[in-house]
Amino acid sequence: ASSDVEKWYQAAVDVAKEAGVIIRDGFYKAKKVEMKGNPRDLVTETDKAVEDMVMATLHKTFPDHKFIGEESVAAGAKCELTDAPTWIIDPVDGTMNFVHSFPYTCISIGLWVDKEARVAVVFNPILDQLYTAKKGEGAYLNGQPIKVSGQKELSKSLVMTELWCRPDEKKMKIAYSNAMKVISQSHGPRCMGSAALNMCQVAQGGADGYYEIGLHAWDVAAGKLIVEEAGGVVTDITGAPIDIMNRRLLCVSSPELGKALTDILEIYEEERD
Ligand code: IPD
Repeated sequence: ASSDVEKWYQAAVDVAKEAGVIIRDGFYKAKKVEMKGNPRDLVTETDKAVEDMVMATLHKTFPDHKFIGEESVAAGAKCELTDAPTWIIDPVDGTMNFVHSFPYTCISIGLWVDKEARVAVVFNPILDQLYTAKKGEGAYLNGQPIKVSGQKELSKSLVMTELWCRPDEKKMKIAYSNAMKVISQSHGPRCMGSAALNMCQVAQGGADGYYEIGLHAWDVAAGKLIVEEAGGVVTDITGAPIDIMNRRLLCVSSPELGKALTDILEIYEEERD
């Protein structure tokens, strides 16, 4: 019912703003940083504090709902999406940016029901950018409607991706060769360090496309709805329907640009979430 959607949406916006206070507070202080899997996979006390607060708050309002959260999964919780209403949370997306006080960091919250995104909130509390969407009702930045650029041609596109150093050389080779192809055929690349905000950038028409392999469900669960509601297309890098557990994402301002990118991007398999 629409009253459910309103309740979900309001709860998501309220808790994202509350999280924003914690993120902003931590951003301007010395950070306590720990390594997760590798020296470039970091977690701070802010990631943990935000996830605990967001989950506890939403659980109180929606005791039957399920949760997938980046830090809970890192601590051993199951990452399972069923038909039940499930909040998918990245407490701090762009943790590396947060650690360096690079102001491109956010909280990402998506509510999925029947394996479909229904409500999405991405909030960058440093730049005060609140991106929101409800299924079928458009996408907004600070309350103003946003739209993708509609660009169709790769040669006129600004394309976001992320470049990183990961232990697997084969994967790195593919990632860098993909980037070289895109760079040489487009207006240029942008690597900003937050998947959720990259998706929002496509949604607001600042970039024309974004792709990455190696993402997780919590990085894309909210951004997917925001891009779609802004008129964009979100798929697997192969062009197949998106599977938020398979770690691959392509989001673009038009199906034509999607095709141009799927034609040149090579894929590799990551372990599923
Ligand atoms: C990461 C960021 C980064 C992307 C990684 C993500 P986190 O999320 O979105 O831009 O390259 O794939 O895991 O760890 O900062 O929440």
